[in-house]
Amino acid sequence: MDHAASSPLTARRAGALKGRTRVPGDKSISHRALILGALTVGETDVVGLLEGEDVINTANAMRALGAKVERMGEGAWRVHGVGVGGFSAPDGVLDFGNSGTGCRLVMGAVGGCPISASFDGDASLRRRPMKRILDPLELIGARAASMSDGGRLPLTLTGARDPIPIVYRTPVPSAQIKSAVLLAGLAAPGETTVIETEASRDHTERLLKHFSAEVRVEAEGAQGRKITVRGEPELAAAPVAVPADPSSAAFPMVAASIVPGSELILTDVMTNPLRTGLIVTLREMGADIEALEPRSAGGEEVADFRVRASALRGVEVPPARAPSMIDEYPVLAVAASFAQGVTVMRGLKELRVKESDRLSAVADGLRANGVEVEIQGDDLIVHGKGRVPGGGLVATRMDHRIAMAFVVMGLATEKPVRVDDAAIIATSFPGFTPLLRSIGAELS
Ligand code: S3P
Repeated sequence: MDHAASSPLTARRAGALKGRTRVPGDKSISHRALILGALTVGETDVVGLLEGEDVINTANAMRALGAKVERMGEGAWRVHGVGVGGFSAPDGVLDFGNSGTGCRLVMGAVGGCPISASFDGDASLRRRPMKRILDPLELIGARAASMSDGGRLPLTLTGARDPIPIVYRTPVPSAQIKSAVLLAGLAAPGETTVIETEASRDHTERLLKHFSAEVRVEAEGAQGRKITVRGEPELAAAPVAVPADPSSAAFPMVAASIVPGSELILTDVMTNPLRTGLIVTLREMGADIEALEPRSAGGEEVADFRVRASALRGVEVPPARAPSMIDEYPVLAVAASFAQGVTVMRGLKELRVKESDRLSAVADGLRANGVEVEIQGDDLIVHGKGRVPGGGLVATRMDHRIAMAFVVMGLATEKPVRVDDAAIIATSFPGFTPLLRSIGAELS
């Protein structure tokens, strides 16, 4: 189940980065378009789908559960749905590779169906907590059997025969938990409600509405939301256009900010406010990022971004911002290393349970390259000195975002930076290396 052989990559300082480019489609929306498409009645055409390994595993899982999923052309996919409750038991194990999102959302979708399915993944995914998903699914009536402690993979999930609609308060702000509950709730009679004290990305709610489900979103306290879906709908197929992934755009965006003289245009980037915390933070640091032609596309807001290199200064990033930039801390820490002054990133507990323990992976990678960094509790503190020596070898720990963040770092360090595995990048950003080369990066 592990990923193909690792391949190291070295990034070195070259000239300015220049050009106009589009990063691949949004990973969160790509998973959801396939899963929700499979729960509709009819044919859903998806364009701009991210063809990364994570999403391909979700497509394969949908096939194994009985939906027909066809690749029509580059990024163009057609899903023939089986309807809510229409999944059939898969013959083999559903293997999600490196993807927590694919695995957890499909657990939700299976949790409301009277079938059993076995879930597995690579060594990274086998370490990640699944109890946070299994707990609410058990309230709905599903049963899980895991061979390891704490409900980790591999495990077998038997969905509820008579799913119970629940009101569930998520213990941590997590779109994956919220989405799993809403997907299972689709099969329950009546209303299923998720309450989150801090709003997490809302692509599931948006796509549910897009596919004609009845969804209500209300404010909950100062920062939270209460999301209610009415169960047993007939979801209607509808086309989906996937915008460029802001979490992938983050890497060239930071690269252009820290490599002197750079000027880059990133097109079609989704600007959903629950995803743009990095842009807010980079601007506070003094980054030169301009949104051009903001517009609506396929139920999401998008814009092109012009990014020019600029001097950055250290800032304090409040914990309330974490959900809107949860995947961007590794590359923000890289930006902070090139800033003048201290950057304090607070409330990063969830980073410990991502594809790797990102708090320690980031701190180790920064130290290996001569950056002064501290972890205090759940806070990450980077002492920026405006320049970074580099010269380090970074352990990517089966984590695509650690690999990409440190490749970006090496484009501006004094000595080259080497990451021990760039193959893992294919999980979320196929074409990362050629895209960076096309704008002037020196990678070998
Ligand atoms: C995702 C939610 C986030 C994020 C992940 C994608 C999603 O995880 O880290 O990369 O698509 O729902 P959590 O919801 O667990 O914070």
